[in-house]
Amino acid sequence: MPSIRKAQKTRGGSRLKAPGKDAQGSRLKAEGKSINLEPSASNLEQYNQPSALIITIDGPAGAGKSTVAKRLAQRMGLTYLDTGATYRALAYAAVKAGLNTTTDIASLSRLARHLPLRLRPTSHGGVQVLLGGVDITREIRTEEVSEAAAQVSQHPPVRAAMVALQRQLANHHGVVVEGRDTGSVVFPHAKHKFFLKADAAIRARRRQEELAQLYGRRPPLTQVRAQLHFRDSLDQTRRVGPLVKPVGATVIDTSHRSVTQVVQLMLRRIRAR
Ligand code: DC
Repeated sequence: MPSIRKAQKTRGGSRLKAPGKDAQGSRLKAEGKSINLEPSASNLEQYNQPSALIITIDGPAGAGKSTVAKRLAQRMGLTYLDTGATYRALAYAAVKAGLNTTTDIASLSRLARHLPLRLRPTSHGGVQVLLGGVDITREIRTEEVSEAAAQVSQHPPVRAAMVALQRQLANHHGVVVEGRDTGSVVFPHAKHKFFLKADAAIRARRRQEELAQLYGRRPPLTQVRAQLHFRDSLDQTRRVGPLVKPVGATVIDTSHRSVTQVVQLMLRRIRAR
């Protein structure tokens, strides 16, 4: 598989730009199809059956959502769904296809609607991300894909397609789902909603550690902080599915709490309802 960077070099135009800054026009023809920007009501009903236990965990990057969500899902015997991984997989596919992640909105939406994505649970509670049967679990964690994911997730028609996909990926019998809009848009009727937050400096250190673990290199903290800050602002200001505390969500500050402490807090809250 060619590296994502190679795809960018040969086709160009895929690097992240601040919204509205990329003046290049779309290089692929728009399809002229109208796309419903709202998640479909029937789809929403199907995945919000009263019997399905749905627990949503939202929050900014580095708040600890993934670690906590995986642990909670294991403890409760539920499926774990990482919606960020779905945007990352789309971003990876888009860059590989040479799409401009800022401007090629029609093509990005079409890709999102037909994304051959599978999330396969691993024995240790994680998830293997398969795109067209190819394992891209590690590839989607680079800073490059993080930036492209932040960009593709800005486009309302792309989000509509991804929300539909996320509902399909959720298990009818119960799921712990984490992301930015899972309690507000993807599963607004979820029984339990949490919103995790943490100090910016702590979130940056966690992300730096994650990158060091993945790639054996520790990027400068100032760089990681700047990237997080940029992604935070994109997450908070987009028109559709912005990062918000969902109505009724329990807020947990994870800055000075261990994973075990956060999960225990959640379990207590869940049992109390
Ligand atoms: O959680 P993460 O860093 O893996 O998410 C990757 C990107 O996807 C991030 O820029 C925010 C976006 N995202 C989103 O817009 N909505 C979600 N529900 C989850 C992630």
